[in-house]
Amino acid sequence: MCGIVGYVGQKQAAPILLHGLGKLEYRGYDSAGLAVREGEEITVVKAKGRLAELSNKTADGQAVPGNCGIGHTRWATHGEPSEINAHPHVSDGNFVVGVHNGIIENYQELREKLLNHGYKFYSQTDTEVAVKLVDYYYKKYLGTPIDAINHAQVRIRGSYALALMFKDYPNEIYAARKDSPMIIGTTEDGSFLGSDVPAILNYTRNVYYVGDMEVARLTASDVTFFNLDGDQIEKEQKVIEWDAESAEKGGFEHFMMKEIHEQPKAVQDTLSAYLKDGHADLSAAELDTEILKNIERMYIVACGSAYHVGMVGKYVIESMADIPVEVDLASEFRYRDPKLVKNSIVIIISQSGETADSLAALRLAKKKGIPTLAIVNVVGSSIARDADHVMYTYAGPEISVATTKAYSAQLIAVDLIALAAAAAKEVISDEREAELVKALQALPEQIEKVIENKERLQWFTSKFANEKDAFFIGRGIDYAIGLEGSLKMKEISYIHSEAYAAGELKHGTISLIEEGTLVIGIMTQDALFEKTRSNMVEVKSRGAYLMALTENGHYSIEDTADFVVYIPKTEPYFAPSLAVIPLQLMGYYLSLARGLDVDKPRNLAKSVTVE
Ligand code: AGP
Repeated sequence: MCGIVGYVGQKQAAPILLHGLGKLEYRGYDSAGLAVREGEEITVVKAKGRLAELSNKTADGQAVPGNCGIGHTRWATHGEPSEINAHPHVSDGNFVVGVHNGIIENYQELREKLLNHGYKFYSQTDTEVAVKLVDYYYKKYLGTPIDAINHAQVRIRGSYALALMFKDYPNEIYAARKDSPMIIGTTEDGSFLGSDVPAILNYTRNVYYVGDMEVARLTASDVTFFNLDGDQIEKEQKVIEWDAESAEKGGFEHFMMKEIHEQPKAVQDTLSAYLKDGHADLSAAELDTEILKNIERMYIVACGSAYHVGMVGKYVIESMADIPVEVDLASEFRYRDPKLVKNSIVIIISQSGETADSLAALRLAKKKGIPTLAIVNVVGSSIARDADHVMYTYAGPEISVATTKAYSAQLIAVDLIALAAAAAKEVISDEREAELVKALQALPEQIEKVIENKERLQWFTSKFANEKDAFFIGRGIDYAIGLEGSLKMKEISYIHSEAYAAGELKHGTISLIEEGTLVIGIMTQDALFEKTRSNMVEVKSRGAYLMALTENGHYSIEDTADFVVYIPKTEPYFAPSLAVIPLQLMGYYLSLARGLDVDKPRNLAKSVTVE
């Protein structure tokens, strides 16, 4: 996510802005910038790369005098990381200068509108559109900044936290938000704003949380709030209890738990980017119906959790779109001289977009003349730049080494690919497509519900903190879910675990089952429920301690399992999006119970950029 800061008061603004942006660095970014005004003169300085670049360009803020300014660290969503795409963005003549955190879903439509009114654009960002939309209404209605911002709020769809300065209004900052966070604090030295608590915690603990669609006007001496009608409203100040470290984690103990809780939004933002008028629309990845309907085979190549997404994708795409899918570990694919048929596509899944094996696999596919699609979470990453087609996930920066929200966003991406391909090949009816879209749209709220039951998982896993082995068993998509559950447990609690196709146990592994061995049976697929139950009975008769993970309604499993976790019912294809949540929480709580470093597990890196 981007970071926003603002200050207006008795002191020089630039050093305060740089300090605030430094406190937001943990959020992940690829460029930064600030705008400071002295009277009518507004100076904008931007820099690609680390914040130090911006500090150098502004002599740590000394070279940009003025006591009113806004600053920004950018996590690219629209338009690659570059100085031109960095914020702040300005309208002609600097009448309106602004920074933004969020995703404006209808920015293309708004851009067209503004182009038709003579506006020109210098960047690829949705933010420049938002700033110029405010400028448009400011000039059209000759009103106040509040009027202009409110007119723009009515037109914008998506999420935003905007901080704006108006040339005609010196020593004032205006802020508005919807779905993206924004807080404001006041001291005798002036007024501060930030997209998150750490940005202003050094100055004050007394803050206002800006409500959705509210507008704030900050001056050196006070802050005033307005509603969408432009009426002034009163707001209650809150006191922040967090220390600086917990503030970076949004009050959670670890980034992993914060990111687990961000999954509903990651899934929603990724769905919003590609669901248009009830259909999966991959035009942003330059994959249209013509291309999709001619694909006769898909190769999904990835590492780790991204590979597990590929395993889910195989089952979903083959069944929904009737296209054969092969899934490969990138480290194997790149050395096995794969035989890739024509009329196929190689899909590389990678959160970081920098994984060496996955990048090598992408380059091998291109060398073999096969079109490539990258599903990545980082705009402008190496894999994104090299792929023929790019489908971004909108999980935002993921800090914890163990992936959660990016994995969930990748699941949505493969679901959408399956849906778009099935529609292009006309292998699903309009009614079935509508049913599947409805089920996808229900997932964010359903994920929220699963997370709400996290304490029950904590109680259960605390009993297994000293476990030596655990087995995840399942059939079909449930087996693919088990792969991710097993990795989550291994990589952060260091407990050995294996995911096994339930039907495969009797071919050897069942000999490992002893009295009290923990076995997690994953049973989200109704068609395979009884088969997996039989496998669970087999291991129970050998002394296993059974946990079942299944959908609401399968209460009969309580006769077999010692502990049952229920998830809401959804389309079988999309069950991984719900079933993975308890498994992520199990890994988290086991790591916690064992006193381990949840966010930075031993021997692991967030992005494996070496072979
Ligand atoms: C998953 O929790 C791990 N962090 C790891 O397996 C990761 O998924 C893998 O290294 C792939 O990374 P990527 O998605 O950035 O390519």
